[in-house]
Amino acid sequence: MEKTFVMVKPDGVRRGLVGRIIGRFEDAGLRLVGIKIMRPDEGLVRRHYPDDPGWLRIVGEKTLGTYREYGMDPVERMGTDDPVEIGRWVREGLVEFITSGPVVAMVWEGNHAVEVVRKLVGSTIPLFAQPGTIRGDFSVDSPDLANREGRPVYNLIHASGDAEEAEREVKLWFRDEELCTS
Ligand code: CDP
Ligand code: MG
Repeated sequence: MEKTFVMVKPDGVRRGLVGRIIGRFEDAGLRLVGIKIMRPDEGLVRRHYPDDPGWLRIVGEKTLGTYREYGMDPVERMGTDDPVEIGRWVREGLVEFITSGPVVAMVWEGNHAVEVVRKLVGSTIPLFAQPGTIRGDFSVDSPDLANREGRPVYNLIHASGDAEEAEREVKLWFRDEELCTS
């Protein structure tokens, strides 16, 4: 049995989607083993999205890919086309956004839980997320709009990207005794 960390971000809580998001995971046969509503402080969010060049680069490359697709100029919009710099810019926006209101932190358990949750959550950019996924069904946000408004992409939910990230994030957000594991 694998565990994964999921967070309904402030936009998902504000829109009243917590119940429906939980329903998606229950429908798929995953088991809820930890849950709390909280307003995370800046330190926690900074530890959650680490200041790690590898992570920053991946996020920056993702952003650059979308810019290319839309023929937008990253230098004009963000002052740089260096992926790590762009990743850092996205991270700062995320810290501000995730601390802006309550989030619902959860741990889900099941067979291949990390992969199953990512599949149900859908692609990072809601515009590209398939219908049937949480991000595809409940949001139309895109980086060009987010960028124009100087904020990160509102995609309702965070889910661990792989087993290693899941282990780190579960430990970061929950104490052992807060989890009802089998
Ligand atoms: O959340 P996910 O694992 O799908 O994506 P990520 O690449 O780990 O990026 C973390 C978060 O950064 C995303 O969920 C978005 O909220 C934000 N992001 C953004 O605002 N603009 C981008 N171009 C890429 C990521
Ligand atoms: Mg991620």
